[in-house]
Amino acid sequence: MSFNLGIINLPNNPKLIKDLSLACARMEKKLSKINFFDLNITEYNKKYINQMIGTHDGLINTLRKYAFVLSWALDKKYGKENLTFLDYGAGHGLMSMLAKELGIKHVLLSDIFPPSMDDAKVLAKKLNLSIDHFIVGDIPDTLEYLKQNNINIDVISNYDTIEHIYKIEDFIKALPMFGSNINYFFGSGANGSNPFIDKKLRSIHKQIERIDKEVKEGHKASDSVKAYTTIRREIILEKHQDLDEKDLNQIVRLTRGKRKDDILRGVEEFKRSGNLPIEISESTDTCDPMNGNWAEHIMDPFELNKKFEKVGFKNTFVLAGFYGKPKKLINKIAGFFFNVYIKVMPPKLGLKLAPYYAIYGEIN
Ligand SMILES: C[S@@+](CC[C@H](N)C(=O)[O-])C[C@H]1O[C@@H](n2cnc3c(N)ncnc32)[C@H](O)[C@@H]1O
Repeated sequence: MSFNLGIINLPNNPKLIKDLSLACARMEKKLSKINFFDLNITEYNKKYINQMIGTHDGLINTLRKYAFVLSWALDKKYGKENLTFLDYGAGHGLMSMLAKELGIKHVLLSDIFPPSMDDAKVLAKKLNLSIDHFIVGDIPDTLEYLKQNNINIDVISNYDTIEHIYKIEDFIKALPMFGSNINYFFGSGANGSNPFIDKKLRSIHKQIERIDKEVKEGHKASDSVKAYTTIRREIILEKHQDLDEKDLNQIVRLTRGKRKDDILRGVEEFKRSGNLPIEISESTDTCDPMNGNWAEHIMDPFELNKKFEKVGFKNTFVLAGFYGKPKKLINKIAGFFFNVYIKVMPPKLGLKLAPYYAIYGEIN
C-alpha cells in the first residue's frame, strides 16, 4: 500500500521517499475516516481543515504538499538517531502528524494561537499519534520552552506560516538558537512571483485595509474584524486625541503593516521630532494592528534566503512548489502541465506558475 506523490520535485533519497509514500497512504486511510465536524475542536479549525481535506482530492492535494515539504526538510537528517523536528506555526498540526506517522522520533508543534494547540492535541489523539510537545507562543516563548526542556531542534519547518510572522527578521535571527545544527525548510503560498497569486493577495490587502470583515462561523478568535485603517486610527486616538486630523490621517496611512506597539512608538517619535513614520516599502502588504499577523506578507524567497545567509545559514536554495490534486477537471489538466513546467524549469521561472515557494538552509 503506497501513495502516489504526484509530479513533484523530490530529493534523491529513496528510503525517505518510500517511507513518506507509505506514511501518506496510512494517513490517507486514517484521515478519510474522520468527520472533523464531530471533533471537539474550534469552529475555526473545523472550517480550515474541511477546506483543506474535506474532499478526497483535497486530502490528496494536502498530503502531496506536506510530503513535498517534509521530504526536503528531512532529507539531510533522515535516519539520524533521536531526530527532533519542530513545526513552528503548526496550526492544526497535520503536517507534523505526517512527520510522526513517518516515524520521526521527536515531533514538536508550536503556535502563537493557543486554541490551535488544543485542537492539535485532539487531532493527534484521534490519529493515534503521540506528539512530544505542544508549545504555545511567539519566538521568545518557544525558545524559552526549548531551553527549559533542554531540547535541541534538528529540523524546523512549516507551511503557510512565514508570511504571517510579524517580524520575520527577528525570526531569522532567532533561528540559530533553536538548535546547534539546524536545517530549515519553509513553504509559503504567498508566492508573489506568480502574477495570479500576486493580484489576488493585493486585492485582499486592499480590502482588509478598508473594509470591516463579516463575522461568520469559523472566524478565528484572534483575528480583528474591523478594517485595519479603522483599528490603527482607534489605537492612535486612544492615546493621542490631540493630533490634528491631517497628521492623524497621514500616520494612519504610513503605519500600514505595523503592530500596535510600533504604531504608538511612531506617534511618540512624531510628537518628539516631527518625523513622520516611514512607510513600509511593500506597496499593499498589511498586518493586523492588534497582533501583527500579516495578511499574507508577499516576500521574495531569494531575498529571504539572503537574510538567512547573513545569520550564518548556508547551502540555501529556493524551490517552486507543485499543484497537488486540484478539485475542478480543468484545473487538474492545467495543474498537470504546470507541474511539468515547474519541474523542468529553474525555480526562478517555475515560481511564475507555482502555487507556492519553499526555502531551505542549514547551519552547523
Ligand atoms: C495559515 S496558518 C498555517 C497553519 C499550518 N502550518 C498549515 O499547514 O496549515 C498560519 C499559522 O501561523 C501561526 N502564527 C502566526 N504568527 C506566528 C508566530 N509569530 N509564532 C508562531 N505561530 C505563528 C498562526 O497562528 C497560524 O496557526
